[in-house]
Amino acid sequence: MPTTTPTVPSIDLPAALASVSPALDELARGHWPSYRVHDDWRTELDRALPEAGAGADETLRVLAETVAPHGAPFLAPGFSGWIVGAPTAVPIAAGLVTAVGGQQRYLGFSGNVLEEVALRWVADLCGLPSGLPGVLSSGGSVANLLALAAARQRAYERLGQDPSREGLHALPPGRVYASEELHHCFLKAAGALGLGRSAVRLLPTDGRQRLDVGALHRALAADVAAGEVPVAVVGIAGTTNTGAIDPLDGIADAATEYDVWYHIDGAYGLFGVLDPDVAPRFAGLSRADSWVVDMHKWLAVPTGTGATYVRDSAYLGRALTQEPSDYIEGAFANAGVPGGSPWDQIGTPYQEWSLELSAAARGIAVWATLHEVGRDGVRQRVVGHNTLAQHLAERIRHEPALELLHEPELSVCCFRVRGNDDRDADARTDRVLRALHSDGVHVPSGTRVGGRFAIRACFVNPRQTTADADALVDAVVSVALSE
Ligand SMILES: Cc1ncc(COP(=O)(O)O)c(C=O)c1O
Repeated sequence: MPTTTPTVPSIDLPAALASVSPALDELARGHWPSYRVHDDWRTELDRALPEAGAGADETLRVLAETVAPHGAPFLAPGFSGWIVGAPTAVPIAAGLVTAVGGQQRYLGFSGNVLEEVALRWVADLCGLPSGLPGVLSSGGSVANLLALAAARQRAYERLGQDPSREGLHALPPGRVYASEELHHCFLKAAGALGLGRSAVRLLPTDGRQRLDVGALHRALAADVAAGEVPVAVVGIAGTTNTGAIDPLDGIADAATEYDVWYHIDGAYGLFGVLDPDVAPRFAGLSRADSWVVDMHKWLAVPTGTGATYVRDSAYLGRALTQEPSDYIEGAFANAGVPGGSPWDQIGTPYQEWSLELSAAARGIAVWATLHEVGRDGVRQRVVGHNTLAQHLAERIRHEPALELLHEPELSVCCFRVRGNDDRDADARTDRVLRALHSDGVHVPSGTRVGGRFAIRACFVNPRQTTADADALVDAVVSVALSE
């Protein structure tokens, strides 16, 4: 038997927002001095499930005093590690609107309308073919999986079998082709789609970390000769490691020659096409069958939004349909007869193109961001970040203790600390990176470029300026020289 009266949840939203707002403002302004995680606050959060609720005031106090101040530091300009979106005030507010009034995109409400508008605007912004069908999902990993599902559908339907309905039983193995710089979400997607992780052929790159198109031709020819099924060729429009843009036109030629689905992963870099200096490197972009771009990276909407565009959505539909169901299409006995219900305006049936049925109306924050800053604002951001990476590269060229590991194409710059040999340089670079992380003010990530261990800085945060790039170099040099 319960011994207390259950706590009734508060519905006083203004009061709740007022309590957490100062702490959120600190985070959103990127004022966080250090990303370091201390253990002492964890005990306040990690307790046994309470039988009696603590009430709204106490819960809001913990949110404001403990949860928010120990939130992720990714909005701080010193964080240049992974490619994480760093939303500013309007997209954050839009995220709140989504939480309150934007759930369940299936109905004819504003969130549903803005899903379509957001997809259209982003396609327009990125120079994709007009009128492309698209769908929003949680981000690049899922967005790429959806595209791969459509590619798999086409490849096996041509052999007379519906892989989504009947599975891959007794079919020849499928293959996916991309450079070794491919984001590993494709391995996961290939595994989840029954192709198997080993179906992904990771091919060599040229001296600029871009797919070697000759190697692609050879791999396709060998696999076709062996009776295997080319499912998709992937071009990367901005690799995670270095921001390299694959030769998209050359890959399109190979895909056309072998009649294979051509997918472009622009999760990070597709917005790069807005930079007039870089735009020519995207030649061939419009020749793909599908594209992915993440709004929660360079467009800086709250985490959880990526887009998949597919030229022929019928493949997406057959790959991912959930089939008609009584709780949706059959929700009214006289379905189709206008009755004044929002269920009559179901709009685009996104659940037929995606893994999700219930989903937040992700278009709201995308729309709000673009409505606030427009095409010019995004272009200015992209050009600014690319310029920052070039500035960082220039600084490194002039630092005797450091070595630039590639010429930045987009907003990523990788470099290392020099050593007596490669092994020594790897070890020194690793030590400097660890020192930076433990200090927590300048937080790049680590990666490998051409086998060499690198410090990697990626600029996508609207708060970042030249001063942040300079401060990073100064910090690296100071740690490296103090060794
Ligand atoms: C090129 C590329 N593709 C896919 C992904 C995966 O995206 P997400 O982390 O949103 O799932 C990333 C992540 O950084 C990426 O850079």
